[in-house]
Amino acid sequence: MPRLNVNVDHVATVRQARGGNEPDPVLAAYLAELGGAHGIVVHLREDRRHIQDRDLRILRETVRTKLNLEMAATEEMTAIAREIRPDMVTLVPEKRKELTTEGGLDVAGNFKTVSRAVKELTKAGIFVSLFIDPEAEQIKASGEAGAGMVELHTGTYAEAVSEPTREAELIKIKKTVKKAAGLGMRTSAGHGLNYANAGPVALIQGIEELNIGHSIVSRALMVGFENAVREMLIVIG
Ligand code: PXP
Repeated sequence: MPRLNVNVDHVATVRQARGGNEPDPVLAAYLAELGGAHGIVVHLREDRRHIQDRDLRILRETVRTKLNLEMAATEEMTAIAREIRPDMVTLVPEKRKELTTEGGLDVAGNFKTVSRAVKELTKAGIFVSLFIDPEAEQIKASGEAGAGMVELHTGTYAEAVSEPTREAELIKIKKTVKKAAGLGMRTSAGHGLNYANAGPVALIQGIEELNIGHSIVSRALMVGFENAVREMLIVIG
């Protein structure tokens, strides 16, 4: 069974809708840990649309499992990571207008920027993962950039409307996990995973962690955070 890291960004999205101080992603992270989450993920975006610097600072002090900071490979974010010292950083692409992260990081196409960020973070003692599409070119570039882990983008799998497309995407993910291992990198997966589709991904040998946000936060509205996490642990267990 892979470990489950819960992304609490969208708790902050609800808070930001009113500009007040509730619901608090810090409290959600605490409840997620009580429900059995193995780690907490937050994405500090350049436009601060959900998670704020304050959240990250407090989470660093309160998260008892593992704090994974998703961020763009920019100088601003690298400086923040070096100061806050999350347990790990996941470098992701970022466009201001996107609703959510659309596709993986083009490591091959932005090799200089990405590898510089990987080196700087690694030098600071922070473990680095790269969020990439399950493509041979990106895996190779990630290995060359010195990443310790790759998070495979499962969005295409999650959004596939036909069974053959879903199956083909699962096969692609499986092959990429093997390639990553061959290059000495660990593997996680995430994006678009929910209570109906996370099971087959969890069964893939070699995927150590799943990073899941929107579906757990959505379910938490109905059944509470701890229960939503417990139910997801059953799905991937
Ligand atoms: N992994 C990465 C790198 C992401 O950017 C996101 C979305 O913030 C997730 C996982 C979680 O995706 P979802 O919210 O669709 O579960």
